Amino acid sequence: MRIGFSMKLAFVIGGIFLLLGNGFILYKNYNTEWRYYQKKYLAMAIEMTEEPQMKNVLMNRSPRIEQLVVTGFGKERVDRCVTCHTGIDDERLVNAPQPFRTHPKIYGNHPYRTFGCTTCHAGNGRGLSVEDAHGKGKYWNEPLLVGDYIEIGCAKCHSNPYLPETPYLRKGAELFHAKACYGCHKIEGVSDGKLGTDLTKVGAKWPIEYLHESIVDPKANNFESLMPKMELTDDEVKALVIYLKSLTSENLMVGPVTQYQNLKQWKEKKPVEVPITLESGKKVFEDRACNACHTINGVGGKIGPDLSVYGLQRTKEWMIQHHINPRSLVAGSIMPDFKYSQSELEALALYLSSLKKLTVDNAVVHKFGKEK
Ligand code: HEC
Ligand code: HEC
Ligand code: HEC
Ligand code: HEC
Ligand code: HEC
Repeated sequence: MRIGFSMKLAFVIGGIFLLLGNGFILYKNYNTEWRYYQKKYLAMAIEMTEEPQMKNVLMNRSPRIEQLVVTGFGKERVDRCVTCHTGIDDERLVNAPQPFRTHPKIYGNHPYRTFGCTTCHAGNGRGLSVEDAHGKGKYWNEPLLVGDYIEIGCAKCHSNPYLPETPYLRKGAELFHAKACYGCHKIEGVSDGKLGTDLTKVGAKWPIEYLHESIVDPKANNFESLMPKMELTDDEVKALVIYLKSLTSENLMVGPVTQYQNLKQWKEKKPVEVPITLESGKKVFEDRACNACHTINGVGGKIGPDLSVYGLQRTKEWMIQHHINPRSLVAGSIMPDFKYSQSELEALALYLSSLKKLTVDNAVVHKFGKEK
């Protein structure tokens, strides 16, 4: 087959465009915001580190995207916030400028490797520019929650009755009654007013600004509104907005509860024979939902110890005995004694023995920082 001249020309021109296009993409990729912050952080980390070997490791590290995969709460989240917010658990950085600063101490026990960031802060976990990640883009309707508004995030797990640590939610719920909102509005399980809109999921429907406006000036969004304009202080309006914005019917605590019930089912499952390979060991780990309690390289729960480098810590014999009966080796262990076949035990030990390398870089850097 012969190719005509015009066809050849088309190929050449097409080729040039392809190269230009790729070049542009490469350039854009290279010049991104997250790279800028990572480089700045690395420079700071190198500065702070005295130990020569560690310094060397850091100097040879190039910027990369860091992410936390959160599986314990509702749908899977991929939070890349730590790509820029690099100092989150590095206590040396309490006075560093954002985005590098140590996270402030907060109530309760919420290790960020298990909780990620967007569970509390909303925003767009996958975003890699400030605008995208903080949810300021046009196509994202869950902008970052900060300051007192973070209580909207708390409510996804700590819903009614609200914790004392979430005073605005409590106050908002109180005002809903004290200011007679309940007389006109329905909220499932709370009130059944008929004249006004059903507010059961109003938080999923409207952004904060709209809710604010609807309360302060009911006629703003609807000229003929029947809703009276009420005497409310700024703080009372804020409490009502926070309370209403938290009404989404979403409850992230359902996840762990379901996991726990699955666990009970798995405990009753009959063991089967499997090939003694790394893959089938990994599968046993996944099927028994071991990561409901254990973290490997940043993924999983915190009830049991982190197993990322467990292969360096124990012999195969110990592992097998521990699985047959955890309490025979660790007094009072709450780890469940599942039923395993001999081959499952061997495969599992093979897989656990292979865990020797921590691949979440931050963990290495931070751990080192704390030991000093
Ligand atoms: C591309 C880098 C980058 C990413 C990705 C990023 N941030 Fe930020 N963040 C910043 C910078 C820079 C600041 C300080 C300036 C500002 O507020 O815009 C900041 C500030 C903040 C603040 C304080 C804002 C305030 O008003 O006090 C919070 C909270 C925050 N980020 C949370 C997050 C969360 C949650 C994510 C992930 C969903 C995230 N960030 C992802 C760069 C980033
Ligand atoms: C359990 C809830 C929770 C989780 C999970 C969480 N935060 Fe926060 N965060 C808070 C609270 C509460 C505050 C304090 C209120 C405020 O100032 O915004 C806060 C404050 C911040 C601030 C502002 C600090 C300042 O000095 O003003 C940043 C930045 C931030 N968080 C980033 C993150 C990032 C990044 C993650 C994920 C690695 C994360 N947070 C995970 C609850 C949480
Ligand atoms: C994604 C779910 C989730 C979010 C969001 C969340 N928490 Fe929690 N919180 C938990 C879990 C699970 C525990 C129990 C952890 C433990 O005890 O190990 C807990 C424990 C607590 C406790 C300890 C008392 C208790 O009831 O166990 C307090 C206080 C608390 N959280 C406050 C907050 C505040 C304030 C926020 C918002 C800034 C928040 N939480 C956001 C899941 C969440
Ligand atoms: C006399 C009855 C009445 C009372 C009392 C009342 N509302 Fe309303 N409200 C309405 C009606 C009717 C609407 C429907 C739309 C309209 O007419 O603007 C509405 C709309 C709203 C909306 C917008 C909902 C949407 O989806 O657009 C919010 C938010 C709201 N009310 C909050 C409150 C709060 C908070 C209080 C108490 C401080 C309150 N309302 C008291 C009658 C009332
Ligand atoms: C309900 C939570 C829970 C589940 C599910 C769970 N574990 Fe554990 N695991 C623990 C706790 C708590 C410990 C610490 C006490 C102990 O060592 O027995 C532990 C300890 C371990 C250890 C370290 C033992 C040592 O000290 O050497 C290994 C390895 C381990 N678990 C593997 C697994 C595997 C594999 C599975 C799934 C088949 C699993 N775990 C499921 C809670 C759990």
